[in-house]
Order: sequence, then C-alpha cells, then structure tokens
Amino acid sequence: MSRYAPGAVMLRAALRRMEPYTPGEQPRPGEQVLKLNTNENPYPPAPGVIRAIRRAAAADSLRRYPPPRADRLVQSASRLYGLPPQMILAGNGSDELLALLFRAALGPGDRVAYAAPTYSLYATLAAMQEAQVVAVPMAADFSLPVVRLAAARARLTIVCNPNSPSGTFTAIDEIDRLAARLGSRLLVVDEAYVDFAEADALGLVGRHANLAVVRSLSKSFSLAGMRVGLLFAAPVVVDALLKVKDSYNLSAPAIAAGAQALEEVGWMRRNAAKIKATRRMAEARLRRIGFAVPPSAANFVLARLAGHNLEGVARQLRRQGILVRHFADALPDALRISIGTPGQMARLFRALEPLMRRLGVSRVNGRAERCG
Ligand SMILES: Cc1ncc(COP(=O)(O)O)c(C=O)c1O
Repeated sequence: MSRYAPGAVMLRAALRRMEPYTPGEQPRPGEQVLKLNTNENPYPPAPGVIRAIRRAAAADSLRRYPPPRADRLVQSASRLYGLPPQMILAGNGSDELLALLFRAALGPGDRVAYAAPTYSLYATLAAMQEAQVVAVPMAADFSLPVVRLAAARARLTIVCNPNSPSGTFTAIDEIDRLAARLGSRLLVVDEAYVDFAEADALGLVGRHANLAVVRSLSKSFSLAGMRVGLLFAAPVVVDALLKVKDSYNLSAPAIAAGAQALEEVGWMRRNAAKIKATRRMAEARLRRIGFAVPPSAANFVLARLAGHNLEGVARQLRRQGILVRHFADALPDALRISIGTPGQMARLFRALEPLMRRLGVSRVNGRAERCG
C-alpha cells in the first residue's frame, strides 16, 4: 500500500482515468502449473537459438549498445519474407510495435477503430494517446464488420487476424478490400498468431501504402521471453516509426535469437503443425462435452457455454494447477485455452470433464479418450 496521497505527483490526467492492461496470470517462480492462459508455445525454440544467445552473451556485444535497427534480424526477415529491409522494423515484442503505431498515428481526440471483442491492449494504447475508440461489435460468429469499420473513418484501424480471444480468421481478400476503402488511413493487421493459420496478409503490404502487418516471435517461434516482433510496411510508415522508437529497442541477445529463429523456420513450422493437429482434437473434444467452439486459426481455442459464467470453472481449474483465461467483462461465458502438448491437453480434459458434469451440461459418455 502506498502511503502517498493520490495526486501527490503531477502526472498526465489521462493516466488517472485509464485502466492498466491486465496480462494473464504469471505463476510465481518455481510454481508448477499447467500454463494454458497466455498462448505460449509448449515446445522449445530451435536448438540453434540457444547457441546464438550464448554466442551473443559471450562476445563483446553485451558491453556495447546493440545495432539500433537490429540489422541481422531485419536481414533474416527480409530473406525469409521477401520484402526489402526498408520495409521491415524489429520491435521489443510486437506489443512495442503496436505502441509505436499508436504513438505515430494518434493524438488526443483522434479516432482508432477495431472490432470487439479483440486484444484488449488496443484500448490501453488508445487511452495512452487520449484517442477516441470506435469499438464495432463483431457478429455472433466473430466475422469482421468491414463496412462499419471503414465507415468509422478512423486515423488508425486495427484488425487482429487470427483474432484473440475468438481464434477466428478473416479472409485476406476482406483485409485487401478494407485497406483499399481506408485510402490513406492506416490499417494495422496484427498477425501475432498467423503461423497457425492457412493464409496471411504479407502479400498485400507491397500493394497498400497504408497497410502495416505486425508479427510476433513469441508464439509460433517459442520466444515469448526474448521479446521479438516484426513489422512490415511501406518505407514511409517504417521511417515515421523510426522517429518515435527508442534508439536501442532490442537487446543484442534478442537480435541474435530472433535472427537464428528465422533461419531455422522449419523448426517453427513443424511445431506449428503439431499444435494445429492438437487444436483440431481439442476443438472436437470440447464440442463433445458441450462447449460451442468457433473454428480457431490460432494456438488457442475459445470454449463457450451460453448462459453460464465460467469464472468458477476457471477458478476450479486454477485450484488443480491449470491456468486458462477467463474474460469477466468481454466474454463471461467463455474460457480461452492455449493449445499445449497432447499430454497437457489430456490433463486439462481430465480436470475439465468432471467440472462440466457438475454443471449438468456434459455430453461425455464416460469413455476414456485420448487427445492428440
Ligand atoms: C493479438 C496479440 N497481439 C500481440 C501480442 C503481443 O505479443 P508479443 O509477445 O510479441 O509482444 C499478443 C500477446 O498475447 C497478442 O495476443
């Protein structure tokens, strides 16, 4: 508890009004839990990544500042994704790149539009800029309200694809249409989970100067702890972001790890394929025990039970050492569950099925089933 009165220090008034972003629960050091609440990858990063971090730590690079534009990482990204380095910016996680975009595009009173429910950080970033949010409700199937988003005429429109927390995917030609409708207004596509989907918007970046695609190495490349993100956009957008970013936004080990992870992209693709197979099994099994599950293109699923607040179920799972995400305000009737290994998902179902039976909605027939 602070012993200082609120307002004891002169800070921006906007900060008093805003709620901080609430990340998913992180277990205490050493606490043994099954962590299915923040969409981390259950598999380790590529073996060369650990060696690259060791090399970065052993060499002179810790004593010196890192390259401000993370050149090695940007070059690896350029080779892998086929866009020139002037169209790529590396970030300290994709969260930093999102913050830079909001900072560059929005001043007090400017409009930012997105479909809801979505990644709740967008609201926090908007509040920081004192921007005005136009949150357009998604339809029941979480399809993107393209026309209403375009009609908002916001300075910045952001689409999370695949969307969190629904996991649903918007077809790329809809993104293409939205980018065209927005003209010179910025469209950001947050593709943090796109490696678990079947298509992506990167091919549109060369066609629309107003489009920025943001990627994360936290999920598919298993590097959440390293903080590496990538942004792809026209040079005019990248140049503007360079003006508002910190000079040395990525550490030397993060640059080395990110570059090596991209060099070993096959490792990521094999892990993503395993996660997609486990996801299919998990979706089917959740539906069998009574949940409605929108088709997921991400490394998590949204399990919904109409008319039930699932906070209690999340709490019961927590008691058994299993963390899943419950969004009390946006989606009280749902749990967002990250996809783990087949063994981890089997453990989840062993805990979840009795809870469902207790709720009286289970269609489980009692047969033991394997997941994955
Ligand atoms: C939709 C979405 N975008 C971006 C991020 C941020 O990822 P990063 O770890 O790269 O900052 C997350 C993390 O949960 C996310 O869910």
